[in-house]
Formats: sequence, structure tokens, C-alpha cells
Amino acid sequence: MKSVDKLTSAEAEKELDRLAKEIARHDRAYHGADAPEISDAEYDALRRRNNEIEERFPLLVRADSPSHRVGARASDKFAKVRHRVPMLSLDNAFSDEDVADFLGRVRRFLGLKDDEEIAVTAETKIDGLSASLRYENGVLVQGATRGDGQEGEDITANLKTISDVPLRLKGKPPAVLEVRGEVYMTHKAFAALNKRQEQDSKPTYANPRNSAAGSVRQLDPGITASRALNFFAYSWGDISELPSKAHSGMLEKFESYGLPVNPETRRCETLKDILKFYHAIAAKRARLGYDIDGVVYKVDRLDWQERLGFVSRSPRWATAHKFPAEQAETVLEGIEIQVGRTGKLAPVARLKPVTVGGVVVANATLHNEDEIARLDARIGDSVVIQRAGDVIPQILRVILEKRPKSAKPYKFPDTCPVCGSHAVREVDEKTGKSDVDRRCTGGLICDAQTVERLKYFVGRDQFDIEGLGGTLIELFHDKGLLKEPADIFALTEKSAKVAKVLAEHRAALSEERRAAGGKEPAKTTAKKKDEGDGKQVENLMGAIERRRTIGLDRLINALGIRHVGETTARLLARRYLTLNAFLEAMKGDNALEELQHIEGIGGVVAEAIHDFFDEPHNVKALNRLLQWLTVQDMAAPAKSSPVSGKTVVFTGTLERMTRQEAKARAESLGAKVSGSVSAKTDIVVAGPGAGSKLKDAQKHNVQVMDEDAWLKLIS
Ligand code: IVH
Repeated sequence: MKSVDKLTSAEAEKELDRLAKEIARHDRAYHGADAPEISDAEYDALRRRNNEIEERFPLLVRADSPSHRVGARASDKFAKVRHRVPMLSLDNAFSDEDVADFLGRVRRFLGLKDDEEIAVTAETKIDGLSASLRYENGVLVQGATRGDGQEGEDITANLKTISDVPLRLKGKPPAVLEVRGEVYMTHKAFAALNKRQEQDSKPTYANPRNSAAGSVRQLDPGITASRALNFFAYSWGDISELPSKAHSGMLEKFESYGLPVNPETRRCETLKDILKFYHAIAAKRARLGYDIDGVVYKVDRLDWQERLGFVSRSPRWATAHKFPAEQAETVLEGIEIQVGRTGKLAPVARLKPVTVGGVVVANATLHNEDEIARLDARIGDSVVIQRAGDVIPQILRVILEKRPKSAKPYKFPDTCPVCGSHAVREVDEKTGKSDVDRRCTGGLICDAQTVERLKYFVGRDQFDIEGLGGTLIELFHDKGLLKEPADIFALTEKSAKVAKVLAEHRAALSEERRAAGGKEPAKTTAKKKDEGDGKQVENLMGAIERRRTIGLDRLINALGIRHVGETTARLLARRYLTLNAFLEAMKGDNALEELQHIEGIGGVVAEAIHDFFDEPHNVKALNRLLQWLTVQDMAAPAKSSPVSGKTVVFTGTLERMTRQEAKARAESLGAKVSGSVSAKTDIVVAGPGAGSKLKDAQKHNVQVMDEDAWLKLIS
């Protein structure tokens, strides 16, 4: 990504547009569905980039800029509550210098001397969801979520079920006191809840924060009450009078009213104190029993807070000091082997569940057998794991000092755990090196590969069967309807069974949703529902039926032969043109040699194709499939076409055809379509919005034409 100071104004504008959309989407995922797609650190990075660009290009700040908003809008399930004092967010610090800068900014803003100490209250940053509790004359009258900071949801009944939340305050609280704090779930409660969900075959939660959010936003307070939730108070909104002159004093008062305040909270006098607090909490983090994602520093003097005020969405008087890269220590409890579509045996580490950056991690990839050897990972070892962004967590290293005597070295299997076939590591004939991956040789008889192969088979570049996605493939496979590609077409003769399976699946889904407390879809009459199901089956049958005619290239691609994707499949189809010619050639004794002579097909690929047709299981399955199909010959490239042998590049927007169509058409006329312009390019077809490729064409003196001229040329 380009650094902010290198962006042109046009790039900045585009980037702000992208960021606004992306942040809004993540806000919706986070607050609306309680299922964030990215980590907090990544989300923060998006917001930071947005703010940095806005700082450099103030004229480009959008009306709907994420910097004007705190988070997602309230959902429409609950009544709305307008916050009298907005519920804001916090600025972030990621390093010791950032913290020093924060104090520097405070000093400068207040006009203090450089060496003047600024006392802060240091608190843990609880990873839950913020809530506001309004007490009038000491009685809890309303509870709300943050929502977008201006308007939240009325969740009074739910918050009242949390045992930490006093219904009546002790002592002499202000007549109006809106307490703000965080609702969270302890690790213990989270594990118990997920176990219960699992036992009841209900969906489990990804992390304690999601489960706290999901639990608080239940329409039935009975469900909230059944979930062990906790609360820490850390701030306030509307207040009739301030009972203290310092933030730390306010929290002491809160405690005296019977409100729970985090026990780690400390008043720190100097930067040194602050950083000591940070490191002490970081060291203690794993033992706290609940998730925190940093610590928060708040200028202690309330008169200074008042003067410092706010900047856009966060107070100038506070900052959150976040914890760095998400690593954690846990125990390797086992290694399991998963078998992929290509038969690859992928070792997966089963870990003692641990929270890494707000997500509970119970599995990590171990890549392959060499990686296990490199790490010398043994069952029972303590390991350091890392979660970076959305990627699957990895094991970084084994903590040898902690290796128990009982730790067992792992023996990688040489048979497939799914079908029992031999699992081998291919050896490259030229280099003599063996492949890093061990693969099952079971091909189409291996169940693990079957499901994955079927999913691939119906994919967009293969048979492209509308309405038949991964979920249905799995469902039909579970119900014994699908085992191999031919079975997909046999479904058209089993529509009653298909309808029954679909109806049962739908019933199970809506039961799951109901049990999880979600909204039921609007009630439909039994008749309407039957019609709906009937329609789905009819559509599906139609979609399958339509694909009984298929191009040779797509068919070859769909077979899922190792190393054979769209490009190689097209090369093969072009070489043999008809299905019969192709099958004959593959049967022949010199098939391998022939394959090796096709331009664009290398030794390893040729070997894989040959192996596929050498396996009788595969040939039989293919023959069963062909009973259902009409395979279209590949059109021979027209030798006499004005573009045969030419290299063509398409750029910009094409208005009369899709890019895919243009490419297919050009190739059928014998042209080679390339993605980039070089001196070897013959023609560049440029539509509106063409950019650098057009410039490249000029540079290399390549003929450029628009779409109409191109169509005329090939017509
Ligand atoms: S103070 C105006 N203190 O962090 C000050 N927030 O990233 C607003 N949070 O929305 C918040 N622990 O949900 C504050 N000790 C703490 C906190 C805390 C967790 C959450 C809170 C806030 C978010 C900001």
C-alpha cells in the first residue's frame, strides 16, 4: 500500500471512498451481526489510514467519513435511546513513543511546561461491548448500547439480568448518574457457553466479545439472564453533579455506590509509572480470566479533561495503549490430518483453546510433515502461536524448556486417514527432490476428496451449476445422494428425494436460528412454503439440466486433475478438439510422451494427467458422467482469421461484451490474449477508462483500437 505522504489528491480521494465503504461494512459486521471479519488491529489500521489521509487532504473529507462516526448504527430490533452525552471512542497508541507523544500533546494543549508531570488513571481496556446505565435517584432506569455513539439500543431488561449491575446504588450518588462501562464475558463463562451450545447443536461463538454482544442483544431477557455476563464501570455520561475532582476519585466513588470497578486500575504520576503499568498488565494478561486488548490512560484532573475536550470521535484527554502482535502460548494437544480436494494430507494442530487478539484459537496449521520436523513439535509441548490478520494461526516455535517428559514425537501417517489408500510424496524426477506434501492416491474413491472435487466440479469456471453450492453438495453427499460427478445429473431423476432433503434441511436451519434467539423469518402459510420449496427444486433441476451440454475445455477443467486448471484444460481441448480424440489419446501407450509435447504443458503436469487416466476408478467415473453429457467440440482456431497468431491485450471497460467473452472469442480466432503490454503485443483493444496499458502501448508502438474497430476486424 502506498504511504499516505506519497498519495496524489486523486488517489487520496479514491482511497477515502474505499475506506469509507470498507469501514462501514466492518461496522455492520461487528455490531449488527456480532461477527467481525477482521481483527481489531486491522480495523484500527483502516481507521488510522482514513484519518491520516484526511489530515493531509482536509478538503477531501467526505460527508459520510468514518471519522464522523464511532461505530455501526443501532439495529432495529430494540427501541432507540438517544445519548444525552455522546458515547465516544478512544484514540490509540501502539508504542512507548506514542504514549509520550500523547502526554506531549496534552501538555502543549494545556500550555504546561515540558517537564510538568501529568497524572493519569491507568485502566485495563476491557474487550467487551460498552453500555450505559442511567441511574435516577440511585435507581437504574435505563440501560443502552453505544450504537453509533449518538443513538444506541434500549437493552434495560437485559442489563438488569447481569448480577454485577446494581439495580439500586448505595450511599449518596448524584441524582442523575449515567454510568458507562463494559459488558464482558469471562473465559470460563465463554467456554461453558460454547460447550452448551455445542451439546445443543447450536452455533458457537468465535470469542468472548462476540458472545457478550450476542447475549446482551437477545430479544428475550431470559436468554441474557442464562448467560454469565459481567460489567466494569469506567466512565460516565450525563451527571447532575461531579462528586470528585479527579477521574480516580470518581472511580472510587463509583465503588462506594456498589458499582464494579476493575481492580487493576492505578493512578500513575509519571510516564515511567505509566509504562510500568502497561508492562505489568501485559505480563498478567493471560491470567486475568477475561479479554483485554490494551490499557487506557485518562488525564486524572477533571478540570484538565474539561479543557482538553474532544477531537472528532475521541477525547483529547485519553488514549488506549494497545497490545502488539497477537501471539500466545498454549499446549499442542494433538495433530490431526485433513485431506483436501487434491488429496493433500494437511496436518492441523489441535491446541488447548487460547485467546489470541480477541479470537479463541483452538487449531493452527502445521503446513506439512517437514514443518512438524523443523519445529520438532511433539504432542504435549508448549508452543507459541501467532495469529496475523485473517490468516490461519501458525505455530511459531516450541518452548523446549517446558517440554514434558511424556511429550510424544508425531509419526506422520503414510496412509490416508479418510479412505485408507496409500499416501505418498511425489518425487521430482529431474531434481530427485520429494514434494513437501504427502497425498492420498485414492482419487475418486476417497470421501474427503469427493466432496471437495464435487464442489470444484460445479464451480464457476467448471460446470457452473447455479444454485448448487458447497452447502448443498455437502448436504446431498451426507444424505447419500452424491458420491461422484455423474450423481449430480442423476439428481434430475430424484426430485422427490431432493425436495425432501431440502425441506428437512430448511426445518433444521430455522430451528437452529430460533434456538439461538434470532428472528424467525416472517411466517408463511404451509401452502406458500411448499410452493417455495417446489420452486427451489425446480430451479435446481433446470440449472443441472442446462449444463448437460458442456464445452470440452470446461469438462476437462472440472475433472479436478492435479495441476490442471482453466489454462491447461483449454490447451488440451485445443490440441484434441473433440472429446473422442482426447480420450483416445489418453488411452494410448504413448499418452505421456504426447502430453509432454504439447506446448505449455510441463513434465509434472503431463505426469499428473497421465496418472489420472491411468487410474481405472477415474476412467470409470468419467464414463458414468459422460452418459449424461453432450460435450461440445472445441472450435478449431481459424487459421485464416485476421488475428490468428497475434497477441492481443484488452484494457479499460468493454461495452459490448464481457472480458471473459472477448477473451474466448479472440482465442477461438487463434489470437493469444495477454494481461500486459510488451513489445511482443500486436493489438491493444482499449475501452473507456484504459490507463497504464494504453501508455505502454504507445511506448512500444503497438496498434491501439477501440472495441468497435476490434469487432469490425474480427467479424
Ligand atoms: S473510556 C470517552 N475506558 O474501548 C471515553 N473505554 O476503543 C470512552 N473500553 O468504546 C471510553 N475499556 O467500549 C474506556 N477502561 C476503559 C475501557 C474502554 C474498554 C472500550 C469502550 C470504548 C472502546 C474505545
